[in-house]
Amino acid sequence: MRLAWAAICGALAMGAAEPSKLPNAENASAPIRLLPRFPDFAYLPAPGSFTPDRTFRLSQDYPANLPAVEPAVQKILSIDFTHDWRAYANAVLTYIMEGNIEGRGVSQAFYLEDNKVRRWYHVPWQHWGPNGREGLHGLTQEVTSKAFYLGPRQKTPAETWAVGFYNARGGWLIGRVWAEADNPDPGAVRRAGGFPVGTVVAKLLFTTASPDEVDYLTNPVQWSAFVYPPPGVKSTGVRKATDGVIVPVRLVQVDMMVRDDRAKATGGWVFGTYVYNGALNRSSPWFNLVPMGLMWGNDPDVRSQPQATSGQPFNPDLKETVINHADSALPSSHLGYGLRLSGPVDNNLSSCKSCHMTAEYPQASPILPTMTKTELGKKPVCGDATWMRWFRNLGPDESFDPQAQSTDSSLQLAASIQNFVASKNQSTGGLYASQFWKNRAMPIAGVRGDVPEDGDPCRPIG
Ligand code: HEC
Repeated sequence: MRLAWAAICGALAMGAAEPSKLPNAENASAPIRLLPRFPDFAYLPAPGSFTPDRTFRLSQDYPANLPAVEPAVQKILSIDFTHDWRAYANAVLTYIMEGNIEGRGVSQAFYLEDNKVRRWYHVPWQHWGPNGREGLHGLTQEVTSKAFYLGPRQKTPAETWAVGFYNARGGWLIGRVWAEADNPDPGAVRRAGGFPVGTVVAKLLFTTASPDEVDYLTNPVQWSAFVYPPPGVKSTGVRKATDGVIVPVRLVQVDMMVRDDRAKATGGWVFGTYVYNGALNRSSPWFNLVPMGLMWGNDPDVRSQPQATSGQPFNPDLKETVINHADSALPSSHLGYGLRLSGPVDNNLSSCKSCHMTAEYPQASPILPTMTKTELGKKPVCGDATWMRWFRNLGPDESFDPQAQSTDSSLQLAASIQNFVASKNQSTGGLYASQFWKNRAMPIAGVRGDVPEDGDPCRPIG
């Protein structure tokens, strides 16, 4: 069984077969049972080398009808996030944890199918490519935290592995976009006016960094993850279904996004993040999370960049961000551009909203201003007009680029369509993408920007 799985997953990862057309390989004489429409994951150790207690299942029975706003979400939507930001963040964190952690060990947490309180949903097509979903917890690989990114004693670059999921209101829209497994429809986002109010999205981010180098990772929430390449080894860019090593990864950050209409004027979403601080050593490791702040807008006109003096810095010019700057429980860490909200494993010249606002299909602009060029072919300078395109306050159905369609801040939804089309292109020599858009009367977008340089464009000159 496990062998069949690995083989099937491997085939899917290479784009060789389609999920909806695969018969169950287990018993050829039984009536054909179709596999789930979307593969759960792509990578698992070879049978015999490791027997996992259980494997990740993609939660994909998206609701056909828009579910009502639950009382717990009504409560969130009644808290004033500008003043009671801590109560707001805490209500969201409680909502995310409820039913996902109680009565079981850390290793069994967040298997969404075990949740008896409410349903949560994953975005499909995150399995594809060498960074795609692994089979133990459904983690995908995110950016590397270079040395000293996570703290002053971090000498070894650390890898980030993460899993995100949407509540039922959000799951409904994922199901609209992916109603036909072989024909995703990004236009469904615009027709719905973006994600429905009351959508809650969560993301758990784990790092391979060790508590020896990053002290707040002590007493960790620790999972085993099947990662590739092995830490310290360079990726060849090609990964077979069984390529990888099992390593411990530790929770470092919990991200949240809430579609809240009170943030309508600044784009409709409230972003928040919690940072792990194991030094607190509370009764359950899950309680060692400390809020870092909330942001509901990019403050498009603010270009100031105050420097840190002591403790967690903040920028008093920002009116659409609140940072938990006076709390000694919060491990000190970098923020984003101009001290906008950005978590420890996120980019320090960006912000939650900045990066997420680029979510569109086709993705015509890169996620970061450091990855683009101005019309004159130069790198944008921190705070110039090109740079500030990344710090607008776009609404749910406003796309970052005119030739694309917004996926309303969902970078996973954008990636799912991108991955699907890329996998189709592999077998059709690139014809699929043009056909995809021909059917939808949309142009093909330009290319993504180049790779960022190491230099800091925001460093004060002189
Ligand atoms: C440098 C860009 C970047 C920054 C900054 C960033 N994110 Fe993300 N985020 C991503 C990408 C890319 C994904 C999709 C990949 C994934 O989830 O594996 C994502 C996924 C998510 C998801 C899952 C939902 C989805 O599909 O988009 C949530 C929730 C989230 N981020 C919240 C946040 C919050 C809160 C912050 C700020 C503390 C933040 N992000 C900062 C790039 C960023």
